[in-house]
Amino acid sequence: MIWYPFTNQEDAPPPIHIERGNAEFVFDKNGKRYIDAISSWWTMVHGHNHPHIKDKIIAQLNLLDHVMLADFTHTPAAELAEKLIAVNNGYFKKVFYSDNGSTAVEVMLKLAVQYWHNIGQKDKNIFIKFDTAYHGDTIGSMSVAASSIFTQPFTPLLFETKTFFYPRQGEDEANGINEKILEDIELYLKENHRRIAGIVLEPLVAAAGGMVFGAQTALKRIYSLSRKYDVLLLFDEVFTGMGRTGKMFAYQKVDVFPDIIALSKGLTGGVLPLAATLVTERIHKAFISKDPSKTFYHGHTMTGNPLASSAALASLEIFEKDNVLEKVALLEKYLKDALQNLQTKYPSKITNTRALGSVAAFDLLRSEGKTGYVFSQTQSIKAKAVEAGIILRPLGNVIYVTPPYLIQDSSLDKIFSVIDYIVETYES
Ligand SMILES: Cc1ncc(COP(=O)(O)O)c(C=O)c1O
Repeated sequence: MIWYPFTNQEDAPPPIHIERGNAEFVFDKNGKRYIDAISSWWTMVHGHNHPHIKDKIIAQLNLLDHVMLADFTHTPAAELAEKLIAVNNGYFKKVFYSDNGSTAVEVMLKLAVQYWHNIGQKDKNIFIKFDTAYHGDTIGSMSVAASSIFTQPFTPLLFETKTFFYPRQGEDEANGINEKILEDIELYLKENHRRIAGIVLEPLVAAAGGMVFGAQTALKRIYSLSRKYDVLLLFDEVFTGMGRTGKMFAYQKVDVFPDIIALSKGLTGGVLPLAATLVTERIHKAFISKDPSKTFYHGHTMTGNPLASSAALASLEIFEKDNVLEKVALLEKYLKDALQNLQTKYPSKITNTRALGSVAAFDLLRSEGKTGYVFSQTQSIKAKAVEAGIILRPLGNVIYVTPPYLIQDSSLDKIFSVIDYIVETYES
């Protein structure tokens, strides 16, 4: 029997048994069709069962299924590393593979700490993190996340960090809140930079924290603070990477330059597990030494798997050949218009509508005096959506969509008519 992730073992409704997928659709055992409005946990950037990704995986399977990546190498992993460096315009110099978002983040944290260790600054091992952060479910990735119901049982195992509020886009930019956050960060860095390894954040969108949109101006300031106080800037682009915010990577949208980025989710078009942590020359140079204590002793058994690497190569080819980022720009326009209509129609029920690239979100308002997260409402919203043939997964009171980029307008129309119904029948 399966122990399902993030699933209450007492009263969760039975899972829906999905049998096949095509583009933005998946179909259950009874043939019922669902629109995957959240790209299966934000992975299926080109939709399900994309023929080009399938063909590339099959061709690779006819050649080589797997070989370990230490002492051996193979064409898909090598080519993918070159392509990933190219889509980052050569800014990063090395690609370290692992298997999922959490491990990509673990690698990023460990590389940062060992970087300082290797250059003789062994006290630099504390990370700055933000109150909206989610970076995965391993001990390290939980340590740099916000404290939550997810992390509470493990608090005694989590390492030392310093938390700041995530500087948000919108009102907080105008009313001085972000300025105060940035001053606090600077003050802390001024006093503690000799102990700080790096600043870890999700650029532009804190995803699992509630699709919270970050302020671009603040991100630029955080970048300059990282240079001024010589701490590393570590971007978790597991969600924002691979076109999600409209550029291939969120850092490219803001023109800031992190030292390390973590990628996964959409990397293989969502088809096979793979992750990559990309580092600049500065980081890599600290590991070039005959001294064995300067080696990065980290690796996962399935690292850089040939089939997963081929899927990622195919996904990058689709981006190029189908001008996918141009389609994301059109999608963003659709999402903005749809949110505007909802906001106009339900001003007392929703707020904080926001869209960027292929991400659209809004907050459901609670009635006067009522606050907080209402689990049963989230469950009932999911159930209403599924009943109507749409896969949604609200984050507390935040309803969002993150569809595959090539989704048809007719499917978007259907998603937003169901969301309209959900808001109409929502009892705040
Ligand atoms: C920003 C971010 N980082 C890391 C992770 C963890 O990825 P995984 O679930 O593949 O371990 C997630 C997953 O949602 C994420 O959104």
